[in-house]
Amino acid sequence: MRSIIDILDLSVEEIDSLIETAQDIISNPGEYAHLCDGLKLATLFFEPSTRTRMSFEAAMYELGGYVLSMSSAASSSAAKGESVADTAKVISCYADIIAIRHPKEGAALVAANNASIPVINGGDGGHCHPTQTLADLLTIYREKGSLKGLTVGICGDLKFGRTVHSLINAMSRYDGTRFVLISPEELRVPDYVINESIRKKGIPYIETEDLDGSMPELDILYMTRIQRERFFNEEDYLRLKDSYILTADRMKYAGKDMSVMHPLPRVNEISVAVDDDPRACYFKQVLNGKYMRMALIIMLLKDAGKLNGTGVSGSRTIQL
Ligand code: NCD
Repeated sequence: MRSIIDILDLSVEEIDSLIETAQDIISNPGEYAHLCDGLKLATLFFEPSTRTRMSFEAAMYELGGYVLSMSSAASSSAAKGESVADTAKVISCYADIIAIRHPKEGAALVAANNASIPVINGGDGGHCHPTQTLADLLTIYREKGSLKGLTVGICGDLKFGRTVHSLINAMSRYDGTRFVLISPEELRVPDYVINESIRKKGIPYIETEDLDGSMPELDILYMTRIQRERFFNEEDYLRLKDSYILTADRMKYAGKDMSVMHPLPRVNEISVAVDDDPRACYFKQVLNGKYMRMALIIMLLKDAGKLNGTGVSGSRTIQL
């Protein structure tokens, strides 16, 4: 059974095809409105979420499917001590596909190994977050017209930020990528990500603490929140929390085409005044996330044999 735990579980060709499907959904939403009629998505969220859970649920509704939702560990049998493995087996009896978020790294993989239906990782601890990266890639593609040849600045908590790790893994596969990794010393990208993606692919990169000085050369500035919930002590968080604040004034250092991205939620790291700047793309990412999750659900349900060879939806036959 095919599951998506890491962005590297998808080939570059599959990502291209998901982007193509998402763009077609954007242009022809009615054609997809009954593709998943009668099928059920279970969202198992053991950690807080607004966008990821709701966009998965909106995605399934817009495909004609149903949703079974568990929005907190406290409201499920996890509170009684049930394991992720058992929960995955149980939910496989009720649903056709699972989206899971969990505070422990590796939990989504455990779910996938025990479920008899496809599992999508909606974030596992500080490890990875492949569907946020799908949202990011569609946004970059729509803003820049290509995923190649881009200088990508990533700023903030690069150590615990799972969206950062997945974005680096994904962008390392495109020709001409360069990374400018901007963070306090203590929150640098973990060695395993640098070694397994950036170094392995021979991608040029620099690590720096200087946001203003880096901005002129960036095509993309991906801001991130300092991940309070993953710190070992509150003093370290308080000391580092306002390390970087992108203000409207600071945007003067950026080129006229630099896209500002953020997976959200933001705390302080982008001033509200930046929202009116045409270079701000973070609310576009939110919407793009729904379309990419629709495309991914279609792909996995088709692989699982739950959708017929062609989906006749609306007036058009969609080749699946
Ligand atoms: C991110 C996450 O959960 O990792 N949020 C999201 O899914 N868009 C980013 C974050 O919480 O900082």
